[in-house]
Amino acid sequence: MPHTNRKKKTPAGMKSVTDQNRKQIIVHTKRKEVLDDEGWTHVVDKPSRQRASSVTESKDAGKYWSIGADFKVGDAYYINRTIEEIQEEFTHSKKAWEGSPACASLKALLDEKMKADSNTKKISRVVALGLGSLQSSRTQSRKTSFTQMAALETILQIMAKEETISMIFQDPVFTDLDKEFLVTLGHQVVEDPAAFDQIDENTLVYAIHCYSDVYQKVSQAPKPAVLVSTDVELFDRTSLDGEKGDVKSLGAMVESYEAIPFPQIRHDFSDTKIYWPKNVESGNP
Ligand SMILES: C[S@@+](CC[C@H](N)C(=O)[O-])C[C@H]1O[C@@H](n2cnc3c(N)ncnc32)[C@H](O)[C@@H]1O
Repeated sequence: MPHTNRKKKTPAGMKSVTDQNRKQIIVHTKRKEVLDDEGWTHVVDKPSRQRASSVTESKDAGKYWSIGADFKVGDAYYINRTIEEIQEEFTHSKKAWEGSPACASLKALLDEKMKADSNTKKISRVVALGLGSLQSSRTQSRKTSFTQMAALETILQIMAKEETISMIFQDPVFTDLDKEFLVTLGHQVVEDPAAFDQIDENTLVYAIHCYSDVYQKVSQAPKPAVLVSTDVELFDRTSLDGEKGDVKSLGAMVESYEAIPFPQIRHDFSDTKIYWPKNVESGNP
């Protein structure tokens, strides 16, 4: 049996994996092996061309086939991937994004904003929150995360032509392979909540489709140069916080910004706004 799908033996006297708190057992720091819910160890950088045979040999062969997953840990589904395959998938998504009308619209609107507003703050750092796992099994979620990555690169092409920008990523669902991939791109990955302390007035905060508690923490930081986030008015309407004070702090967070709709592709930027500082000098947004 190849080592990709081998059952971990439970030593005598020890509880089986299903009896224990799985979160305590899954140690993602050992990138190449992940223990799934069934007690099987997966080598997560196994090339996909070998995947069919490894899954077939699992006692749960085909169990997650319909959702395109190889295995499950807790509530999350994963696929076996190598760094090279993640890079390939990113290259593919980036190409699709760059050829899309949404990308052209984004470039045009940022160009216009940069020209119209000489006061635009210099961006020296990106804090990207809640990108989602690039190793997540669901094809659509993965596609969305890759497209959001590609769009972030487009934003920086326009907004940071000469400057070197440090990019910090934080998402509690990142696997070690996700982290390794982001690091190979030259980015930094931090553990929650370290990224919130990195936000300052020269930061672009990129946090698409995050939950209100994430925005709440952003609202407690210095106001960023630009914020890309879910339309905060939606939190008001749906009362996701349940707490009026919380909703107010989200409103206060964006009151000095103009809310520009993010150009759409599929649902990847649904309800997303680019919060751009109001141009106080010209009196126009
Ligand atoms: C609804 S998903 C959005 C994923 C992706 N951006 C998208 O649009 O499909 C929200 C993401 O926020 C992440 N998240 C939750 N708490 C977070 C935190 N404190 N810091 C950063 N990300 C967080 C979740 O793990 C999840 O990946």
